[in-house]
This record gives sequence, structure tokens and C-alpha cells, in this order.
Amino acid sequence: MRHERGEAGVPGLSGLPGENDLSAAELEYVESRAVVAAEAEGDERAVEAALRPRRLDDVIGQDRVREQLSLVLQAALGRDRAPDHVLLSGPPGLGKTTLAMIIAAEMGSPLRLTSGPAITHAGDLAAILSGMNDNDVLFVDEIHRMSRPAEEMLYMAMEDFRVDVVIGKGPGATAIPLEIPPFTLVGATTRAGLLPGPLRDRFGFTAHLEFYEPAELDLIVRRSAGLLGVELTDDGAAEIASRSRGTPRIANRLLRRVRDYAQVRADGVVSLDIAHRALDLYEVDRLGLDRLDRAVIDALCRRFGGGPVGLSTLAVAVGEERETVEEVAEPFLVRSGFLARTSRGRVATPAAWEHLGLRAPAGSPFATDPGLFTEP
Ligand SMILES: Nc1ncnc2c1ncn2[C@@H]1O[C@H](COP(=O)(O)OP(=O)(O)O)[C@@H](O)[C@H]1O
Ligand SMILES: [Mg+2]
Repeated sequence: MRHERGEAGVPGLSGLPGENDLSAAELEYVESRAVVAAEAEGDERAVEAALRPRRLDDVIGQDRVREQLSLVLQAALGRDRAPDHVLLSGPPGLGKTTLAMIIAAEMGSPLRLTSGPAITHAGDLAAILSGMNDNDVLFVDEIHRMSRPAEEMLYMAMEDFRVDVVIGKGPGATAIPLEIPPFTLVGATTRAGLLPGPLRDRFGFTAHLEFYEPAELDLIVRRSAGLLGVELTDDGAAEIASRSRGTPRIANRLLRRVRDYAQVRADGVVSLDIAHRALDLYEVDRLGLDRLDRAVIDALCRRFGGGPVGLSTLAVAVGEERETVEEVAEPFLVRSGFLARTSRGRVATPAAWEHLGLRAPAGSPFATDPGLFTEP
């Protein structure tokens, strides 16, 4: 169950009577995953769709990517050709899907959407490709999770705009060449490093999305508040922005949770005080670290003496998938200077110890071996 009260624009309509009487522990259980997860799920998708910038000019932040992409698109429009294939990489919630939709909108082309896990056979991809028209934009989300045979078919399609469809099996199998109209592939991945070289090389433009600065998130929170009809003060907006983990999706989600709190427990205005109280309730700390982030550095410091410890061991210790720790928690922890990836494993930095209110023991990796901190 999620607190999505009032999402449909019905103020005060709550899911269950007395829902807000849940104890802090119950709320924690109910809300923790939903509030902190960087992935969107369920009805959140609909809200996100409403908040998505539609054109490149509406995109906040990512200035470099925006300028580069704008050049790529304008040049393609000028030549009246489909733009080069685009790879968007970066942690969840930073705007990959949004940019894919914007690329199609700017080109005035239809967007076809699929995802790596949905393409289990090369045949699935052949079916999609054969249904495309001139200059369509094909968006493949989580492109690193496509099957190998489909990946190989995709290289060929990207480069030569043709694929070989294999009919039959064994010695009698024949390959039938299939022409594909010129199209633009937009791939999104949280793990660019997992893409095989030949696939990566066939993207003419690769954009790596970075975490957002608080000032950019502040603008995003204000824009979303405007769209959702939420009244908020300057310091209320800034507080939400600074606890959003550098991630627009989380900023929008925290805004909705704080809005709920303001509506039920106060006069509906998101002020600094309301933001503090609501975000404390949802266990998003001052630096934006959420439960998973804290669990990771907590395990690292308390259970493994600061590391180095392998990723899989760390993931087991916090009860999460290896991928979740690596793709969701780590990028932010590394960027915030709490965790370092070393050739021997993950290591807590002095800032991590300090954030947990602990003193790094004399024997911890930092104290004994500064040379550890070179990237593998
Ligand atoms: N640059 C941005 N400016 C404003 N809002 C953004 C921006 N990037 C992302 N968002 C918001 O964050 C949400 C998540 O973005 P999305 O493109 O789905 O992320 P990803 O596909 O990388 O996980 C979107 O609903 C959108 O409203
Ligand atoms: Mg996405």
C-alpha cells in the first residue's frame, strides 16, 4: 500500500481511515522502499508522465548533455536525416526516459518503446524493426539486459539498416535479409560498462547523465509544485531539493509526500518546518541518504570494519540484490564521498564514519593504506 492520496486531484481523499495514525515503525515498513527507491513503479508512472518536460528547452540541468543533444538534433533536422543513435547512461531517475521522449518530440517522429528484458529472442527484435517507418525513434530501455543474439542483430540494424532473419534450424536454416528504414535508436542503461564494445561503438552520441545540483533540483521541485498545484515556500523547496539525492524522480516523490503531510497535518503549504518534519518521518536524512544508502555504509563500517569488502558480500549484508547496491546506492555514495570502490573491494571513507557518528578505528583501511584509494 502506498500513500498516493490526492494524486488524482481529490484533496483529502485518503486510502484508509486513520491511515495517518500508523506508528512510526509501521510507516517505516510501509513506506521505506517506496519513498527511497529510485525506480518508478505502479501509479507513480502516471504522475511522472504529467511532470516530464516535453521539449529540450524545458529540461532543467544537464546543460552539457542538453547542448550536445540539441546540436545533434538540429543538424539532423537540417540534413533531413534521422539523427545518429543515442546512448543515455546514468543511475535511475535522472531523466533517460524523459530525454528519449524529447528526442522523438524534437524530431517530430513517433517513439517506439521497448526494453532489453522484453527482447528475449532475436525474433522479437526483428518483429519490432520490421514494423518501423522512416525516421522512427526506437527507445530500448535497459539495453544492457538484451539477449546476446538480439544484441548481434541490433548492431547490424544500427549500422547497415538491415538484418538477417534466420528461418529454420540446423543445416537447412536460411537467412533472409530484411531491409529496415533509417531509424534512430535511443538506448538507455544504468550500466554502460556492461554493454559489449561493438554495441557501444555503434552509438554516434553517448550522454552520461550526472546527479543534479541542489539548485537544479530546486527549480525542478518548483516546476513540479506548479504543475501539481502545491503551494510551497522558498526554504521548503530548498529543503526538499537538498534531500533528493541528486535525483529528479526522488525530488518529485518527496514533494508529493511532503505535500501529503502539509495537507493532513497542517494548512497545505509546504514550509521549511513541514518539509523537515515530513522528511524526518520518511527517514530521508539531511544529506539525502535513504535507508539503503545508510544500510550500506552502516554494514561497511560496523560489520566489516570499513572494508575492503566485496560487493556481493556487502549486498548480502544489507539484504539487497547486488545490482541494486551497485546501480542504485553506490553511485550516490561514491559521489557524496562516503564510499570508495577499490581494487580490493568497497571501502568506507572518513566521511562515512563521521556521518554515522562513529570514529574510524586506527586499523581501518584509510588509516593504514592510503594507497588503496586508486580506482581499480
Ligand atoms: N532534467 C529534468 N528536469 C525536470 N524533470 C526531470 C528531469 N529529469 C527527470 N525529471 C523528472 O524525473 C522523473 C524521472 O525521469 P526519467 O526520465 O523517468 O528517469 P530515468 O529514465 O533516467 O530513470 C520524470 O518524471 C521527470 O518528471
Ligand atoms: Mg527510465
